[in-house]
Amino acid sequence: MASDTTPAETQTFAPSPEFTAQANAGAELYDQAEAEGVDFWARQARELLTWNKDFTEVLDWSNPPFAKWFQDGTLNACYNAVDRHVEAGNGDRVAIHFEGEPGDSRSYTYAQLKDEVSKAANAMEGLGVVKGDRVALYLPMIAEAVISMLACARIGAIHSVVFGGFSADALRSRVEDGQAKLVVTADGSFRRGKPSMLKPAVDEALSEGASSVEHVLVVRRNEAEVEMTEGRDVWWHDAVGSASTEHTPAEQGAEDPLFVLYTSGTTGKPKGIMHTTGGYLTQGAFTHKYVFDLKPETDVYWCTADVGWVTGHSYVAYAPLVNGSTQVIYEGTPDSPHRGRFWEIVQKYGVTIMYTSPTAIRTMMKWGEEIPGEYDLSSLRVLGTVGEAINPEAWTWFHRVIGGGRCPIVDTWWQTETGAIMISQLPGVTVAKPGSAQVPMPGIKVDVVDDNGQPVPNGTSGFLVLREPWPSMLRTIWGDDDRYVDTYWSRFGDMYFAGDGAKRDEDGDVWILGRVDDVMNVSGHRLSTPEIESALVSHPSVAEAAVVGATDETTGQAVIAFVILSDQADAEGRDKAELAEEMRAHVGKEISPIAKPKKVLIVPELPKTRSGKIMRRLLKDVAEDREVGDVSTLADQTVMQQIVDSLAK
Ligand code: WTA
Repeated sequence: MASDTTPAETQTFAPSPEFTAQANAGAELYDQAEAEGVDFWARQARELLTWNKDFTEVLDWSNPPFAKWFQDGTLNACYNAVDRHVEAGNGDRVAIHFEGEPGDSRSYTYAQLKDEVSKAANAMEGLGVVKGDRVALYLPMIAEAVISMLACARIGAIHSVVFGGFSADALRSRVEDGQAKLVVTADGSFRRGKPSMLKPAVDEALSEGASSVEHVLVVRRNEAEVEMTEGRDVWWHDAVGSASTEHTPAEQGAEDPLFVLYTSGTTGKPKGIMHTTGGYLTQGAFTHKYVFDLKPETDVYWCTADVGWVTGHSYVAYAPLVNGSTQVIYEGTPDSPHRGRFWEIVQKYGVTIMYTSPTAIRTMMKWGEEIPGEYDLSSLRVLGTVGEAINPEAWTWFHRVIGGGRCPIVDTWWQTETGAIMISQLPGVTVAKPGSAQVPMPGIKVDVVDDNGQPVPNGTSGFLVLREPWPSMLRTIWGDDDRYVDTYWSRFGDMYFAGDGAKRDEDGDVWILGRVDDVMNVSGHRLSTPEIESALVSHPSVAEAAVVGATDETTGQAVIAFVILSDQADAEGRDKAELAEEMRAHVGKEISPIAKPKKVLIVPELPKTRSGKIMRRLLKDVAEDREVGDVSTLADQTVMQQIVDSLAK
C-alpha cells in the first residue's frame, strides 16, 4: 500500500492527574504483559474468574490456528457472572437496570438475577435442552435476552443470538446452520412507540425447514396478539414462571463452546463465529476492568449495544456481570419518545461509564448540543466507542458536550472474531489522539504489514494483523474449519488477518482505515457486499447487481446498489424510482432493514474486466461523486461513461 502522511489531527488529550491517581491501569501493565508472556493471561484468568478446577496448561498452540487456552480447567460462565457475587455477599447489588422504550423499568439485584437465570435454566432443561445443544435467541433488548444467554451458559448449551432486526429468512438460515433445538423469542418489542413483532417471523422461519427446532419459548413483552402452535410453543411466564430457583451450574471445560454468533463475511453465507468459555471470559473481564476503569462498587455502566451483536455479548451479557458491575440496558432507540432519551437515561441512573457507537454520536451531534445540555451528565467519568472509526470532530464533540471535557474517551478496536477489545487507549495512562485506537492492549501483538507480510514503517499504511493467539480469539467457524483457516490464516501465513486496513503514524500509533475486503460497515454493522447483491438478484426485475459502501457523513458508510434490469422489467417499462424502492424493500425483507441500500441506481451496464470481474472501485467513485478512476482494464471502456450519462438523465 502507498505511503502517506501523518493525519493532520495532532491535538492530543493527556489524562488528568486526578484520574491517573485512581485508575485501575498503570503503565506497568504493558511491561508485565511483555515480561510474563502467556503467564500474564494465566494470572488474569485466576484473578478475574472463579474456576471449579484450576488449569495446568495455559496455551496449547501445537495445532495452529486451532488454539486451546486453559484447556484442562473447568468453570461455569453463568456462575462467574452471577452466583459468585451472591456468595461473596453482594446479592443486594443491582446487576441490571432494565429501561423499556415506553418508560417501564425494572431492576434486578444479583440475588434476583440468580433466581431468574436458575428458573430459565430449569425451564430450558424441562424443554429438553442439554449440554452442547444449540439454542437460538431472537429477542428484543430486554432483560430476558441476557437471562436467556446466561441460562444457556448455566446448562452448557450453546446460544446463537440472532439480532431481532433480522428477517425470517436470515433467522431460518442461522437456525439451520446451528441445528438449534430451541428458539427463545418474544411476541414483539417497542420501536419508536410502535409494536415491532418478532414471533410472526419465527413462525415464518419455522414454516419450512429448520426442523431441528422442538420448542419455541415466548416472552410476553408488547402484548400484541400472536399465534401459539400447540405442542411447540410455550409462554415464558408459564415455563419459567413456574420453575424452581434452585439450579446447579454445569461444570464446563474451558474450551467448551459458549456461543456461536453469525457475522457477515466476504461471501453470501454468514459465518458462525464460535467462542469458548475460559479464554473468552478472561479477556472480556480483563479488558472491561482496565479499558473502562471499572469500580464495581460505585460505577453504573451502560453499553448501548444490542445483544444481537458481539458488543452486546462481551460487554453486556458477560464481562460486566463477571466483574460484578451494575449496568443499564435499554430496549429502544435514541429518539423515542424524544431526542434526549439517552441523556435522560444517563441522568436517571447516574451512569458513570458509557460505551456507544460513533454513528450514535454523529446522529446526536446533528440534533444539536442543546438537547444533552438539558440533562445532568455530571455522573459520567469514562466514555467509550466501538464499531467504526470515530472522526475527530465527533470525538471532540463527545468529549466536550457529553464528557464535560473531563472524561477520558477510549476508542476500542475489535471484532466478533476477536471476542474482546484488542486495541484501545487505557484511561489514566494513554495520551489520547482523537480518531486513533492507538495502542494494542497489554498482551496483544498487533502489527501493520504490507502485501508480503512485512511490517510497514511508521507513517505508512498496510493490513492489520495479529501476530500471536489471544485468549478470546474465535476457535473456528461453526462446522467449517477449512473456512476458518482460509478466511483468517491463509493471507499472511501464521498471522491472523483482520480484514482491516490500518496505518501507523509517526509515533507508531495505529489508525484503523476500514475494511479492505467485501465487507461494508454501516453504522458499525457489518454487511456483506455479495450477500446484498444476491438478495438483489433474487428480485425478478433485477438481472445483475453490484453493491458498494460509499462514505456517508452519519453512518460511516452507506450501501449504494447499481442494478441492471431484467429483460422482463425492461419490457414492462415501469417507473424507475418505484422499482428502486421495491428493490430496497426486497433487501430489507430478505436480510434486514439495516441492509437496505440507501440508493438503488438503475444503470445500463456494469463495469467489468475482461475476465468478467466487476470493478466496484469505479462504482464507488460514482457513488462518492468523484471523477471516475482508471478504466483501462475494463473490457468495454465506454461503460463508465454510459453509467454516468444514464444517471445524469
Ligand atoms: C470495525 C464490532 C475502527 C472494523 C466490535 C472491524 C472499528 C469491524 C473499530 C468489526 C474502531 C470495530 N475503529 N473500526 N474502534 N471497532 N471496527 O465484528 O472494520 O461487528 O473489522 O465487531 O468493525 O465489526 P464487528
